[in-house]
Amino acid sequence: MPKVAVIGAGTMGHGIAELFAIAGYEVALVDVAEDYLKRALQNVEWSLKKLAEKGQIKEDPSVVLSRVKPIVNDVCKAVEGAELMVEAVVEDIEVKRRVFAEADRCAPPEAILATNTSSLPITEISEAVRPERRSKVVGMHFFNPPVLMPLVEVIKGAYTSDETVKKIVEYASKLGKQTVIVNKDVPGFIVNRILARVNDAACWMVARKEATVQEVDSALMYKAGLPMGAFILLDYTGIDVACFIGDAMSKRGFKTHPCPLIVEKCQQKKFGVKTGEGFYKYP
Ligand code: CAA
Repeated sequence: MPKVAVIGAGTMGHGIAELFAIAGYEVALVDVAEDYLKRALQNVEWSLKKLAEKGQIKEDPSVVLSRVKPIVNDVCKAVEGAELMVEAVVEDIEVKRRVFAEADRCAPPEAILATNTSSLPITEISEAVRPERRSKVVGMHFFNPPVLMPLVEVIKGAYTSDETVKKIVEYASKLGKQTVIVNKDVPGFIVNRILARVNDAACWMVARKEATVQEVDSALMYKAGLPMGAFILLDYTGIDVACFIGDAMSKRGFKTHPCPLIVEKCQQKKFGVKTGEGFYKYP
C-alpha cells in the first residue's frame, strides 16, 4: 500500500489524513501527544461515518480508519518509506523548519515534502532541507474542512521543480480536488490574501458601528452567495488562525489593517467554535 505521512493532527491535519486514507493510502499521522491523536482519530471516524451515511465513500468507515496509523512525536518513523509528507503543524516557521529538516533526514530520496502552511514562505521552509531535496519542497494548501472543500492551492517556492508541482496536482486529483497553481510564493498565496481583505472590511464595518456582525454575515450569505458569513467563517476556521495569518502576512510586507475586534478576540482567547465563543457563542 502506498504510504504518506501527515505531520500535525489538528483541524487540518486530521482532515488531510482522512482524505489520503479514503484514497487508499496508508497514512502515518503524527502529533506531539497521544491525546491529540486520539481526538484526531475520533474526528476522522465521525467524518467517515457522515460520508458513509451519504454514500460519499464506498468502503466501510472502519476499514478506511484502519489505514490511519497514529505515531507520537516521531517524524522520522512516519516518513520512513513514505512517498509524500504533508506537514500541517502550527504556523510557526521554526517549528515547520524543524519538521522539514527531520523529514529530509529520514524520508526516501525521491519523497516530496509538502507544507499546508496558509501564509509562511515556501522558499524559507525549503531552506531547512539539504540543497538536493529543495526541488521537492512545495506548498499543498487545503481548506477547512479538507474533506468537503474542493480546492487545493499548489504553491511553488523558489526551488520547487515543475515535476514536483505536477506530482502534487496528481495527488490532489486522486483526492478528488481541483487545484490552482500559485507560481509566486506571495504572502497569503491567493485565497488567504483575498480573504484577509474581506475579513478586514467586514470587521472594520462592525468596529466603526456601521453594521452589526449579524448584518454583515447576512449580507454576505444571502446576497453575495457565500456559504458562510465572514464572522461565521472566522469562528469556524479559528480567530487565532486569522491572527497568525495576519501577522505572518504583515511580516512579509503585505499591508494589513488589523481590526481591533479580531485582535481583542485573540487576546481574550475567544477563538470561535473551538473555544465555545468567538463572534458568536457555541453551546
Ligand atoms: N466531514 C464530513 N461531514 C461534515 C464535515 C466533515 N468534516 N463537516 C461538516 N459535515 C457535514 C455536516 O455535519 C452536515 O451533515 P448533515 O447534512 O448530516 O447535517 C453536512 O456536512 C453539511 O453541513 P452543514 O449543513 O453544516 O452546512 P453546509 O451545507 O453549509 O456545508 C461547509 C458546510 C462545506 C463547511 C460550507 O458551509 C462551506 O463551504 N463553508 C465555507 C468554508 C470555507 O470557506 N473554508 C475555508 C476557510 S479558509 C481556510 O481554511 C484557509 C486557511 O488557510 C485557514
